[in-house]
Amino acid sequence: MRINPSKKIKGSITIPPDKSISHRSLILTGMARNESTISNILESDDIKSSLNAMQKLGATFLGDFKEMTITPFKKPVSSQLNCENSGTTTRLLSGVVSSYEGIFDFIGDDSLSTRPMKRISEPLTKMGSQFVWQSKEGFLPFTIKGGKLRGIAYDNIKRSAQVKSAILLAGLRADGTTIVYEQTKTRDHTERLLTQMGADIRTGEGKVEIRASEIEGLKMTIPGDFSSAAFFLALAACHEHAILEIKNCSTNPSRTGLFEILSKMGADVSLSNEHQDLEPYGDITIKSSQLTGIQIPDHLIPNMIDELPLIALLGCHANGKTTVRNASELRVKESDRIAILCEMFKNIGVSITELEDGFEIEGPQTIKGGVAESHHDHRMAMLAAVCGVLSQEGVQIKNHECVSVSFPSFFETLQTITG
Ligand code: S3P
Repeated sequence: MRINPSKKIKGSITIPPDKSISHRSLILTGMARNESTISNILESDDIKSSLNAMQKLGATFLGDFKEMTITPFKKPVSSQLNCENSGTTTRLLSGVVSSYEGIFDFIGDDSLSTRPMKRISEPLTKMGSQFVWQSKEGFLPFTIKGGKLRGIAYDNIKRSAQVKSAILLAGLRADGTTIVYEQTKTRDHTERLLTQMGADIRTGEGKVEIRASEIEGLKMTIPGDFSSAAFFLALAACHEHAILEIKNCSTNPSRTGLFEILSKMGADVSLSNEHQDLEPYGDITIKSSQLTGIQIPDHLIPNMIDELPLIALLGCHANGKTTVRNASELRVKESDRIAILCEMFKNIGVSITELEDGFEIEGPQTIKGGVAESHHDHRMAMLAAVCGVLSQEGVQIKNHECVSVSFPSFFETLQTITG
């Protein structure tokens, strides 16, 4: 797909529903004691992976992604779960099935099969689950033999919300107390949902504790995904003639590090109509901005892990140096996002320094344009598109279709604001 430069960015848009909350809403309601109704679920490949897996386990889903009624399973059926490209499906469901008697086979696509799984097998095995690696130790495909679990205390050193969630979901049916410590807070959607659903869960400074409990069904509406909105926020901040409004977007503080960074870099960005719901949301307005380079504070790295490649784009338009460090987790996402980012920037005429655990970029620079390869990573395809709009000569994206993982209507939305 070819993306041409655009003279202005203008409009008011809504963003598809939050991916992390959509996964959790389907998984947690599928384990509840009674029915739930969820509105505005993300209709994307990743969420279909969670939905299909939960169906295989015996939960039933009626309606469509606009509004779905979920009838939970009583006890999950031993089955093969194809998690396709979704790390969240694999890791959260591993926690769920570990606490039930049965044999559960997990498989995924080529990208998912290279992503590390020891981070969940280690704590879950300590709790009493059994993992059998079918091909290579620590990677998909694997089999889980579930059963009676015991609570553990675990330090979430990977700073991963998926790891924390897997342990909490296993802890929901384990003997004793399960505690997850985290020095740096990661996204808290699992804790919010579990609390709302009546689980025996306590969140304190630097830790979450859970005890065995039944959870009740719920009714909720999912707000727009801040991580998807992030592409448009970065685009508007960097563009010379931009004014953009994003409506009903999640403003969960464990996700909005990029908002803080945009403000610190000098962006003209503001929040209005904020609603304090189970998951908070509001409207964001952003305009063309004069940006200044920044070093991203370490405590915000997990908070904005999926938005970090966009920091390179902001850094490219900012005065001075912008640095991201302590972010080696980016190397084990849907692709090696540090390597792919640096390759992409070089190919479109931007100079960037690759670091072991991040990158450094000196601005301001102009994006010349050229060919950008997504390596089938949805967020890298969307980054390439935004670079194209800001470039002198346009960007041709190779393998752009993967945006369907999190934002199937991305190119249509981009078209509405660029004309
Ligand atoms: C997610 C957590 C993050 C993020 C991913 C979604 C989640 O991964 O990169 O896109 O929904 O919990 P980690 O928790 O492994 O950092």
